[in-house]
Amino acid sequence: MTGDPGWPWATKLVGAGHDPEEVAEASRQLIDYANELIETKRAHPDDALVSALMRVTEDGDRLSQSELVAMIFLLVIAGSETPANQIGNAVYHLLSNPAELARLRADPSLMPLAVEELLRYDGGVGTASFRFTTADVLVGDVVIPAGDMVVLSLNSADRDEAHFPDADRLDLSRNPRGTLAFGHGIHYCIGAPLAKLVLQIGLSGLLTAFPELGFATDWAELHWKNSTLVHGLTELPVRLRA
Ligand code: HEM
Repeated sequence: MTGDPGWPWATKLVGAGHDPEEVAEASRQLIDYANELIETKRAHPDDALVSALMRVTEDGDRLSQSELVAMIFLLVIAGSETPANQIGNAVYHLLSNPAELARLRADPSLMPLAVEELLRYDGGVGTASFRFTTADVLVGDVVIPAGDMVVLSLNSADRDEAHFPDADRLDLSRNPRGTLAFGHGIHYCIGAPLAKLVLQIGLSGLLTAFPELGFATDWAELHWKNSTLVHGLTELPVRLRA
C-alpha cells in the first residue's frame, strides 16, 4: 500500500456527512495499510513506534495482530486529523483577532502561551472519549444515574466563565490553567506534547514566512465540519501576500 497514511482516511472516518460506504471503504483501506505495515516491520524491525509496539511485553503477554491494528488505526486517526483541524482553528482566530496577532508577531516568545490559549479558545476535538458513570453523580441539580454514558463537551468547558474570566476573549498571554482541549485523567491525549510542538513550529513558520498572511475569502463564508467529535473548518483559504 502506498500513499500518505491517515490522509484522507482520517477525515472520512471522523467527519460527519460522508456516505456510509465511503466510510466503510476508508476503514478497510486503513486496516489493510496497518496489516501491511505490521508485516513489513516483522520482516524489517527498526527502532520506530510500530516495531516498539510489536516488541512490548507485559507478564509474557504481547499485543495480538488485531490489537496492533487497532492501535495503529487509533494513532493514525488521532494523530493526523486533530493537528490539521487545530492549525486551521488557530490561524482562523489569529486572523480574526488582528491585535492579538500583532502582539504575537511583535513578541514571538509568546508562542508557547499563545498555543495554550488557542487550544482553550477553540479546541479541535469537541468531545472527550465517552465515559460511563460507575455511581449516581450529581451535576448542578441533575442526577446522572449509575451506568449512564456521558459525553462531555470540551469546548464548552474551556469557555467556562467560572474558571476562565472573560472566557470568550482570546488573550494570548492568559496562560490558561486546567484547559480540557486534550481531555483529562487516564485517557488524556498521549499526543499532547507532540501536538503542542507541531502547533508552535507550524504557526511560527507560517507567521515568519508570510508577514502579510490574511483571509482570502469573506470569513462569514467559511464552513465548520458537521461533526460533534472534531471541530475544524472544511477549508481555510488564505492569501500569503497583500
Ligand atoms: C491538537 C491536536 C490534538 C488534540 C486537540 C487532541 C485531543 C484529544 C482528546 C480530547 C482526547 C480524548 C481525551 C479524553 O477523553 O480524556 C485525545 C485522545 C487521544 N489522542 Fe489526541 N489530540 C491531538 C493530537 C494527537 C496526536 C498528534 C496523537 C498521536 C500522535 C494523538 C493521539 C491520541 C490517542 C492515542 C488518544 C487516546 C488516548 C486514550 O484513550 O487513552 N492525539 N486526544
